[in-house]
Amino acid sequence: MKSSLETLLEMHDQMHLIAFWNQLNASRQATLEAEIRAIDFERIARLYQQRDALSDLGAMAKRSRPPAAFRLNGQGNRFSADEARQRGIEALRDGRVGVILVAGGQGTRLGFNHPKGMFPIGPVSGKSLFQFHIEKMLAAARRYGKPVPLYLMTSPVTHDETVDFLARHDRFGLPERDLRVFCQGTMPAVDATTGKLLLDGPEHLALSPDGHGGTLAALVRGGSLADAQSRGIEQLFYFQVDNPLVDIAGPEFLGYHLLAGSEASSQVIAKRDPLERVGNVVDIDGRLHVIEYSDLPDDVARRRAADGSLEIWAGSIAVHVFDVAFLDRMAHRADALPFHIAKKKVPYVDASGKRIEPDAPNAIKFERFIFDLLPSAENAIVVEVDPARAFAPLKNAPGAATDTPDWVRAQLVAEHARWLRAAGVEVREGVPVEISPLLALDPEELAGRLLRGTRVLEPTYFTP
Ligand code: UTP
Repeated sequence: MKSSLETLLEMHDQMHLIAFWNQLNASRQATLEAEIRAIDFERIARLYQQRDALSDLGAMAKRSRPPAAFRLNGQGNRFSADEARQRGIEALRDGRVGVILVAGGQGTRLGFNHPKGMFPIGPVSGKSLFQFHIEKMLAAARRYGKPVPLYLMTSPVTHDETVDFLARHDRFGLPERDLRVFCQGTMPAVDATTGKLLLDGPEHLALSPDGHGGTLAALVRGGSLADAQSRGIEQLFYFQVDNPLVDIAGPEFLGYHLLAGSEASSQVIAKRDPLERVGNVVDIDGRLHVIEYSDLPDDVARRRAADGSLEIWAGSIAVHVFDVAFLDRMAHRADALPFHIAKKKVPYVDASGKRIEPDAPNAIKFERFIFDLLPSAENAIVVEVDPARAFAPLKNAPGAATDTPDWVRAQLVAEHARWLRAAGVEVREGVPVEISPLLALDPEELAGRLLRGTRVLEPTYFTP
């Protein structure tokens, strides 16, 4: 007699998933069965059928306009940077701000064999990305006199090692009650030509994290959103693990968000080149959207304003502030975030049991993106930041032109040397310097903490 598992797989034309069933012992069979039963086959089939429509955003992208923005040069800004800073400081002093750090990605480009947050990025200290981020949060909590809780998202790829790493280092000083680690969901990869799920091994499906958009569902599932609500958190500052220059819960950005009555805000940098490979933050029909560079038609990307500047100027750096009430509202909408498709190389086990490492994209992956929340937000705004001060993402392995470990370290050194020089310190050209967030979070704070006449002639780590 057929098992209910066979009936299920037959119904969805996925019998190949149990091709090696008889070679598995009972526990491995149970593993495979659990993975299969967690799949929503109808949804996968629907997404596969709609794959062309899902990737055609060109028509909508044509209607792109510049977004409602607070610019660095102050032009057209409704509120000054000082007003914004004051408003942000109030929220921090009231303890109404928490932080979401997403660290569930596979980090395939970097090729580091551990969660990216463990990467030793400190140019002099060698400290990890996680330590950088947590120290900034501790320094902010100390400065404003209220805890800043961290909601850290992992995925099945990064969860166990991340939890171990943080435990081994006593969470870098973050109190236990101020850290919640929650794991995002996965989606199966399907064969690009047949839509059938791929096997990663005889008892495992090829699964991968469901994109940073998986944050929304995972925040709710793991109880983190409810935790934030119960603590009186009203805004969540969202950022990615790969950027050690990010100004975590910076009061100015928070303040613009609050003064504008925005439900979701985005930090952006001014694009230098119309076809730059960044997400474009744009206004479409009165709503904020992020349009990937690959979806923005060239003629739209090249449009110029009367003063010659790029009309579509705002490049996303994936730093946001979300109102907790907005996230809560969106979490109750099943269609809150669409799936995007990406053609990727996904290793798989073929019908004969042989593992294939494809050298061209063979599979479709389905991912949700957090920025797809923006069109649903009221009064959404963007705030421009200077990339030299706020953006140095670690994406690529050594050898690439930018976003490599050495490139990120050089950005950190350049920024910290600027802080030191602004404080009147002589820094010998080319000498690596690094400032611990626990010593200073910005140049003004640093200036008050240095001895007069400090000179830097050799690699130096400034720490309390
Ligand atoms: P990227 O899209 O740059 O992916 O993620 P990645 O994992 O860092 O690197 P590649 O593309 O595999 O080389 C941007 C941020 O979103 C997080 C990542 O951890 C990173 O902080 N992310 C991405 C998740 O948390 N979950 C996901 O499913 C995808």
